[in-house]
Amino acid sequence: MTEPLVLTQTIGEGARRTGVITLHRPKQLNALNDALMDQLGAALQGFDADDGIGCIVVTGSEKAFAAGADISAMAKKTYAEAIAENFIGRNWETILTIRKPVIAAVSGFALGGGCELAMMCDFIIAADTAKFGQPEIKIGIIPGAGGTQRLPRAVGKSKAMDMVLTARMMDAAEAERAGLVSRVVPADKLMDEVLAAADAINALSPASVLLAKSCVNKAFEGGLADGVQHERRIFHSLFATEDQKEGMAAFLEKRKPAWTGR
Ligand code: HXC
Repeated sequence: MTEPLVLTQTIGEGARRTGVITLHRPKQLNALNDALMDQLGAALQGFDADDGIGCIVVTGSEKAFAAGADISAMAKKTYAEAIAENFIGRNWETILTIRKPVIAAVSGFALGGGCELAMMCDFIIAADTAKFGQPEIKIGIIPGAGGTQRLPRAVGKSKAMDMVLTARMMDAAEAERAGLVSRVVPADKLMDEVLAAADAINALSPASVLLAKSCVNKAFEGGLADGVQHERRIFHSLFATEDQKEGMAAFLEKRKPAWTGR
């Protein structure tokens, strides 16, 4: 049997629950290797396909979300091998194809590929112990899983250059000020806060959740005019759903909406 490098569990009571994926190579601070990324991709796809799941959480250990790509697995890799196996492209970006919201719950180190993985999630909730960094330059490479692109979009050019070029780490407070994380919470409350955020999402109409996520992602992928036009089309399309009628009627009637997902 393949060694489990990610653990999965389902949490919650309602019609839509939360799928929690825990990166599990504790001795290596969750250093990300190919086998782990394959298992993470499969777990994400499994939850995405499960109608009983509304929201997905990716987390690590108390000490490390992930300390980067596994350096021992990359140390001897040649250029030709990196190309031939489509290193990173083959299995690291499955997370970008997931339609349901994916929250990163980050405690401890999120470095290199670990920081990049957190940034591929839809938003990051950080423990006050979290440390983010792109230290690849110290080992003769550069961020290779989107860090040079997503970090400047999140924190601006100056901080991104500072982190990518000097390899310094950002603590949780700075990460929140810079907009890299949506909130910082005490370490011992991290999962409670993340699961409460996930529960808030689980209680919503699934169609508007999926479409809201896709619209916010558009803001990162193209120009402003295209993004706003895309948003307008999606916005109009929601008036074809029963959930829109129900949501607005419930508000006017001062009651809770009963979502049907239609
Ligand atoms: C392989 C790693 C690792 C990594 C830690 N370990 N990070 N193994 N790849 N990225 C291993 C250590 O070798 C050690 O194994 C064990 O985990 C515990 O780590 P320590 O260094 O003893 O812990 P500590 O002193 O607390 O230091 C923590 C740390 C440090 C600051 C996070 O481990 C560190 O600097 N790690 C490397 C961070 C890094 O450079 N990340 C970027 C990788 S490149 P043993 O066997 O000795 O106990 C990358 C490329 C991305 O991510 C681009 C494509 C995705």
